[in-house]
Amino acid sequence: MIVTTTDLFRLSYGIYAVGAYNINNMEQAIGLFEGNARAEAPFIVQISKGSRDYAGVTMIENIILAAEKMYPDNIFAVHLDHGDEQTCYECIESGFYSSVMIDASHESFMDNIAITRRISNKAHQRGISVEAELGMLGGVEEDINIDEKHALLTDPDEAIEFVSASECDSLAVAIGTSHGAYKFVGGQGLHFDRIAAIQERLPNFPLVMHGSSSVPKSEVDRINAAGGELDSSARGVDEDEFAQAIRLGVTKVNIDTDGRLVWTRVHREFFRDQPEVFDFRKPGVILMEEYARFIEQKSSKLMSAGKLEDVRTSVS
Ligand code: G3H
Ligand code: 13P
Ligand code: ZN
Repeated sequence: MIVTTTDLFRLSYGIYAVGAYNINNMEQAIGLFEGNARAEAPFIVQISKGSRDYAGVTMIENIILAAEKMYPDNIFAVHLDHGDEQTCYECIESGFYSSVMIDASHESFMDNIAITRRISNKAHQRGISVEAELGMLGGVEEDINIDEKHALLTDPDEAIEFVSASECDSLAVAIGTSHGAYKFVGGQGLHFDRIAAIQERLPNFPLVMHGSSSVPKSEVDRINAAGGELDSSARGVDEDEFAQAIRLGVTKVNIDTDGRLVWTRVHREFFRDQPEVFDFRKPGVILMEEYARFIEQKSSKLMSAGKLEDVRTSVS
């Protein structure tokens, strides 16, 4: 059952985070729905512009509808990840999405507000909620000094002004994470002081953490042992930090890279060990099972496992 993102956030705020997973194909969709069914966890399926281009809009949306039919007990929302203004309008008008993200943080503060406000106006008329972004999520590099690093993080005073002026419903905040496999080089982690300062100014307002993959070392090592050439210093978010972030208002946790690592590990190992095989369904079956396990394990770290019944009772 597809529900509103607002409902999921209302029920989860401060208690657990809703995992928001990017998908691009059928194998990921089946793994995602199977893993959440096993975990009895509500979740968000995210479609990026890249996914819409790769599979085609009709295909990716119908993959989700097919997965919904295969797993009728699952409860989830459908979200546009990192949309530009035009794609947000298309998704709002399509009627398929529970929420859209407008990614205008590279614009000036005032332009970010103006663009987000336009999207909020249109989306709210259709009962769709809007995620906006404030701060530089792109990455906080090791070689810049502490003051420069802090300047890239979301400013708590700006956050309160931004939310009220843009009328967004959730806010992607820069709190130390970045996209991809190479988030942290040394001993960095989440900036809890910054999250706490934002929550103090925006109590009960859902915060979104992008770049939340944990990039397990075991996964990177297995990929490299099977012929990959990933930088073995690749590091992600410590999953044990999720709990504290959740208490501080992080309600949606975006994960894509970890799923890509599962895909890469399964396929590299499969073709290394069975170089004579060319039936791609054989690694596909392994992938779907491994992907389901990965999702099940994430749900437990996000503390969304076992929350399905609460959501069902509240939304039905
Ligand atoms: O944050 C971006 C997501 O990982 C989606 O990536 O735009 O390559 O589909 P993509
Ligand atoms: P990762 O690259 O850490 O998986 O982040 C994904 C993301 O933020 C999607 O919006
Ligand atoms: Zn992102």
